[in-house]
Amino acid sequence: MSPDRSPALRLRRLRRTVALREAVAESRVTPGDLIEPIFVRPGGGPAEPIPSLPGVFRRTPADAAVHAAGAVEDGVGAVLLFGLPRRKDPRGREAARPDSAVASAIRAIKARQPGALVITDVCLCAYTTHGHCGILRKGEVDNDATLPALARVAVAHARAGADLVAPSAMMDHQVAAIREALDAAGFADVGVLAYSAKFASAFYGPFREAADSAPAEGDRRGYQLDVRNAREALREIEVDLAEGADLVMVKPALPSLDILARARARFDVPLVAYQVSGEYAMLKAAAARGWLDEGRAARESLAAIRRAGADLIITYYARAIAREGTEAP
Ligand code: PBG
Repeated sequence: MSPDRSPALRLRRLRRTVALREAVAESRVTPGDLIEPIFVRPGGGPAEPIPSLPGVFRRTPADAAVHAAGAVEDGVGAVLLFGLPRRKDPRGREAARPDSAVASAIRAIKARQPGALVITDVCLCAYTTHGHCGILRKGEVDNDATLPALARVAVAHARAGADLVAPSAMMDHQVAAIREALDAAGFADVGVLAYSAKFASAFYGPFREAADSAPAEGDRRGYQLDVRNAREALREIEVDLAEGADLVMVKPALPSLDILARARARFDVPLVAYQVSGEYAMLKAAAARGWLDEGRAARESLAAIRRAGADLIITYYARAIAREGTEAP
């Protein structure tokens, strides 16, 4: 049989002009799909640059509010807050205080921009002296002892005005513990964005510098997913949904496109991807050397993450893309 070379078959026909390409684009990235991470630190003074995340800063609560309001005005869909404490301790107690930098930032953002969608990261790693995401017992992270601590953090954030809390510690049953605590405290309307499929990834390196959250000893492979496992990642999503998660996340993004696509096909819930610090830092570093066109490479990455099935994307590019436009790469 001869190959089909019918002159009528011309796939290039729909690629000829910008208008045609726009008309047949199967997916789009719009600013409202993007979530801007913001690092909040205690104290005063100017925003502190983070060397491995050019263009990202550690901000005071007041400055975080200005930045968040600006991002919302630029069309960004939401902000995701990460906090640094005044003082670390073995149990990360400051994370649940009503006067933590994050709680103050939530209040400041809501005062300035009541319509802003505010999401908070719920974890202990930036608050513990040892840098692990939970409470240690005999040198190991004690899952069940960590659950009430995470629940207290979530309730503190809800009380300060968070719309969604995003547990990222990868403790079993953290979603259930947080859902129950929120309901018991009168916050049935506060939703849970679960960091469900969170892999033990080398691409979180720059974040750990930003949040000063690297483990002092050991690593996170005892609780985060093994990069080799896709079925297990889907199971984590299934379990979190059964525990009451409202939205689920896959992280890191570009190294997990297969997980995103499979999760999209299997679960009819909002799916979030996190383009993590190392993904951003790679693009920045290559662009700084003139090796990549940063804007195009960033847009292409985000387009691929959308195409794979993400509804929302957490990205350090959120505000920049919202300002500069999201046209096709
Ligand atoms: C907290 C947390 C991490 C990230 C988000 N929440 C770091 C980690 O698990 O070590 C990583 C985000 C990024 O790299 O941009 N547990």
